[in-house]
Amino acid sequence: MSGDDKEAESETNETDGPAPIKPRPSGLALRYPTIEDLRKRARRRVPRFTFDYVDGAAGAGETCKTRNAAALDAVELVPRYGVENFTADTEVELFGRRYAAPVAIAPMGLPGLVWPGGEEALARAAQAARIPFILSSAAGATIERVAELAPDCTWFQLYRMPRNELAINFDLVRRAEAVGVQALMLTLDVPARTKRPRELRNRLIIPYTVGLRTFAHVLPHPAWLLALQRHGQTAFANYQAYAGEKVSNREVVKFVREQSGGSFTWNEVARFRDAWKGPLVVKGILHPHDAERAVELGVDGVVVSNHGGRQLESAPASIDVLPAVAAAVGDRATVLFDSGIRSGEDVVRALALGAKSTLSGRAFMYGLAALGPRGPSHVANFFFDEIAEAMRQVGTRHCGEIRDLVVRHSSALAF
Ligand SMILES: Cc1cc2nc3c(=O)[nH]c(=O)nc-3n(C[C@H](O)[C@H](O)[C@H](O)COP(=O)(O)O)c2cc1C
Repeated sequence: MSGDDKEAESETNETDGPAPIKPRPSGLALRYPTIEDLRKRARRRVPRFTFDYVDGAAGAGETCKTRNAAALDAVELVPRYGVENFTADTEVELFGRRYAAPVAIAPMGLPGLVWPGGEEALARAAQAARIPFILSSAAGATIERVAELAPDCTWFQLYRMPRNELAINFDLVRRAEAVGVQALMLTLDVPARTKRPRELRNRLIIPYTVGLRTFAHVLPHPAWLLALQRHGQTAFANYQAYAGEKVSNREVVKFVREQSGGSFTWNEVARFRDAWKGPLVVKGILHPHDAERAVELGVDGVVVSNHGGRQLESAPASIDVLPAVAAAVGDRATVLFDSGIRSGEDVVRALALGAKSTLSGRAFMYGLAALGPRGPSHVANFFFDEIAEAMRQVGTRHCGEIRDLVVRHSSALAF
């Protein structure tokens, strides 16, 4: 028996239930039983500018991030008992493919800043866990590389690059198709750059240079520095081909800044619908009319999201608009949800309020920062265990039944 198992033996509380239906938690599950535990370790384990990049949000008070968590916490589920032959089947079908659980790794720029080589760690974990990894176009690994590592689970997200009739965007679509990406996601909720005070205080500029300020940040983190030495500085790998193969990271970043901008217009969404034959999803929907507009243009899915509170501090908690968006969409498209998910019960809450599946951003990044390359798999397992556990608690045998639960959601927005 390992030290961790012994710890489990002595510490697991047996007084609250009958014989365990699953093995007792051990190892990482004991040391980091919540995402908050990972977050705390992440704060100690990586340079501050890196932690703040992930943990930060829009606005002086970062209140949208807090609002997401508070609104999810306030959603109450009424459990049902007495079901025969009970098993909690967490599998979910999305766009004709089956995934192991209703949670995906949300698209995030520069995971390699958080832990050098982070994109590859996320892709490997997603493939092993059989959940979607949505590669951000602003990530530090190419679609080609990620599709190689996660051939069954790679989705791809685009930010708008309006020059030359979206030529770069459409070339990325071509590349995504060539490597068999399973779904294409257009992010709508970044109409302009936003102010994230923590990034400004840290003078976070990509690519960062180890100057006096960052030197003090990185010095206490030898494991992170070692990973940096192995993988090098992170850059916008998907754009390298357009900026020029031989140009420096700094020039790629400058190129991307000059080329990007604005939110995709509905006319542009229609053009992507024509160009991309696979499942098309729009992300960042908070108003039911926007969801309807997207569905009328033929999108297959919408992500109800406020970008994890990173864009507009005064945005509503995304869980508070989910029921209205789900009602507007009906069964015409798949409704996905993100912003604030920190537990399996949060996932079940979102499914009870109309989402078919969810995305999680920071939870996976905290795992990466706290535990390095093994972090994302730990977070995936954490969600598997917690989602199954929550389903057992509320009495639902499969994800489809979660929708039938009685829910109290007093902060839901009426439009
Ligand atoms: C560090 C970081 C970078 C992000 N970068 C992107 C991105 O490149 N594209 C995108 O559509 N969303 C991006 N997001 C938003 C996430 O996709 C997702 O909407 C958000 O993280 C969900 O909230 P959560 O972190 O509370 O789970 C980013 C989020 C974080 C935390």
